[in-house]
Amino acid sequence: MIIRYSHGDPIDTGALVTAFDKHDLSEFPFKGQWENGGFRFSFPMAPQDILYGLGESPRGINKRGWVYESYCSDDPFHTETKQSLYAAHNFILLSGSQTFGLFIDFPARIRWDLGYTRQDVAEITIDGADFDIYLIQGDDPRAVIRAFRAAIGKSYVPPRWAFGYQQSRWSYHNAAAVDEVIARYDRAGIPLDCVYLDIDYMERYKDFTVDENAFPDFARYVREKRAQGIHLIPIIDAGVKKEEGYDVYEEGRENGYFCKKADGSDFEGGVWPGICGFPDFLDPAVREWFGAKYQRLLDLGIDGFWNDMNEPAIFYSADGIEAALEEAAALKGKNLDLSGFFHLKDTFAGLSNAQSDYSSIYHNIGGKPVNHQRVHNLYGASMTKAAGEYFEKTCGKGKILMFSRASYIGAHRSAGIWFGDNHSWWSHILLNLKMLPGANMCGFLYCGADLGGFNENATRDLVLRFLALGVFTPLMRNHSALGTRDQEGYRFEHPEDFRDVIQVRYRLIPYLYASFIKASENDDLLFRPLSLDYPDDPIARECETQLMLGDECMIAPVYEQNVSGRTVYLPEDMTFVKLSGERTETQALTKGLHYIKVALNEVPLFIRKGKTIPLCKPAMRTSELKWDDTVPLI
Ligand code: GLC
Repeated sequence: MIIRYSHGDPIDTGALVTAFDKHDLSEFPFKGQWENGGFRFSFPMAPQDILYGLGESPRGINKRGWVYESYCSDDPFHTETKQSLYAAHNFILLSGSQTFGLFIDFPARIRWDLGYTRQDVAEITIDGADFDIYLIQGDDPRAVIRAFRAAIGKSYVPPRWAFGYQQSRWSYHNAAAVDEVIARYDRAGIPLDCVYLDIDYMERYKDFTVDENAFPDFARYVREKRAQGIHLIPIIDAGVKKEEGYDVYEEGRENGYFCKKADGSDFEGGVWPGICGFPDFLDPAVREWFGAKYQRLLDLGIDGFWNDMNEPAIFYSADGIEAALEEAAALKGKNLDLSGFFHLKDTFAGLSNAQSDYSSIYHNIGGKPVNHQRVHNLYGASMTKAAGEYFEKTCGKGKILMFSRASYIGAHRSAGIWFGDNHSWWSHILLNLKMLPGANMCGFLYCGADLGGFNENATRDLVLRFLALGVFTPLMRNHSALGTRDQEGYRFEHPEDFRDVIQVRYRLIPYLYASFIKASENDDLLFRPLSLDYPDDPIARECETQLMLGDECMIAPVYEQNVSGRTVYLPEDMTFVKLSGERTETQALTKGLHYIKVALNEVPLFIRKGKTIPLCKPAMRTSELKWDDTVPLI
C-alpha cells in the first residue's frame, strides 16, 4: 500500500507512473516541524533496524550511522565521509521492528541524518515546502520494494550485446588506437563487445561532432567495427560549446534553449570545451530538440551512448572566473601572507561546481523562470530522458544502449547509470558492491562501476579482482582516467588470467540476461542484501560484503590485496563454484563461515540449495554466443 502526503505545489519530476490521491501532510504519521522554509521529520529506530536505500550513495548497504545529502555532485573522491555522489535517489526502506519505505519526491536538497546525530533517530530535512512524501507499506522488505518499483515504472532494458565486456579509456584518441584495443584483445583471446569513445573523438569537445582527422569517414569506420562485432560507444556531455558557426550552439541560443541568468541572458559556464551553454533539459521542447541531435550519430551507425557531466558539472562560470581573475590581478606584486595566499587559492579552487553559480541559473518550467536550486537533481535525469525518449520513439524500446552519470528516480525508465569516477582503490570494490542493491531498489538495474578503478594507477591484481565483481554487474566496463596506467586486460603479464575471468562473464550471459529481464518485469531486485532472503539470520542480516543475485546465487568477491581468498558466510548449505575460463569446480559447503581460496583468474559463486543456473560456452562476442545451447552448472 502506498500513501501520498503532499505539501504545497510540487514540481512534476516524472518519477512515478502511477498517480496516487493526495493526503494532507498533517496526516503524515511521523512527527515533523517547519524550519527555515523546509520540513524536518523524524522517526525512531530500534537497535535491530536496518535502513536500506539511497541508491548510488557512499558507505554501506545499511545506511544507518551517517548523514547523506540528496544533491547530484560531480565529486571524483568517493571517500567514506562524503555525503553525496552523482545521483539523488530519495528512497529508503526500514526493516526490523517495522517494515516501511519512504520516497520523497522533491528535486532539491534533502538531508538524511540516519542516526548520525542521534543513533536511534532518523531525521530527514526537506529543503523546501513543495513536495510529496510516499509511505510504502508491505508485508516484508521485498514487497515494499516491489510496490515502490511498480509505482515508478519498468526499468530500462538495454540491448543484449550491452551485457558483453566493454573497454573504455579517457581516451582512445583515434581510429588506430581503437583498432589496437580490439586487435590486442582478440590476439589475447579475451572477449570484447564494446569500445568507448571518450571526449577526444569530438571536434574540440563539441557534442554530436566527430573529429574527422582522428576518425576519417566515421560512418565507414563504425560499419567496419560492427562487422567485427564491436560497438563504439561515444560520450555526450551536457554543456554545448559556445562557438559561432557551431549549429547546435547557435540553434540553442537562437531558440532560447539554454539555461538563463536572472537578467534573462544565457548562463555561461566552462567545461571541457571552454565556455558552454547548458541546455534547459527541464523544458520538454529542449528535450525534444536535444534528443533529436543524437540522430546524427545514429545515422553514422552508432547504437550506444553515455551521458556525462550532467549534475551539471561546471568547472567555472564566465562571471566567476572574471571576478577571480580580477581579484588575482589586484594582488599582483603584493606580499601574500597566510590568509592572503589561502584566500587566493580558495578563490580559484572554489570556482568549480560553485553553489553561487547553481543559484544563478534559471530554468523555464511551464513558461515561468524557476531557480536551478529548486530542481537541481533533475538536470542529469532530464538530459537522459531527452535521449531515452527519442530513442524509444525512433528506434523502439531496448535498441540503444544508454546510461548516465547523474540521475533521479524516473530516469531508470530511460537508461542505466554508472557509478562515476571511482578510484583504483581496493576499498572501492566493496563500495561498488554495496551500491548495487540500493540502485536496484530505485529502479536502476543496468548499472556498474568503472572496473579497475577510474582515478589513479591500477595494479594487475586489483583489476582482476574488480573484474571478478564486474562479471556479475549488468554493465561490465573497464574504464580509467587520462594519465593513469593502462589497464586493458592485455596490458599486464599473463593476459590469459584476464581471458579466464572475462570468459566466465560470457558463459553466464544467458543466465544474467534472463535474471535481469525477470527483475525488470517483476519490479524486483537483481542484487539483494542477504537479509532480504534470510531475515531471521542475524549474521546474514549484517552482511556487507556479499549479495544475493537472482533467485539462485550468492556472490562474494575477494576485495583485498595479497590474499588468496576470503571468509564467506553461508546462510544455508550451498555449492561453492569456482569458474575460470571454461573450467568449473564445485564443492558442497554447509551453512556457516568458511574461508574460501580463490586464485586471481577465478570467479567465486555460490549456488543455493536445490538450484542451478545455465552456462553456455564462451565466445569472443555476444553475437557469437550460443544463447540457447546451455548446460546446467550442477
Ligand atoms: C568524467 C567522467 C569520466 C570521463 C571523463 C572525461 O570525469 O566521469 O568517465 O572519462 O569525464 O570525459
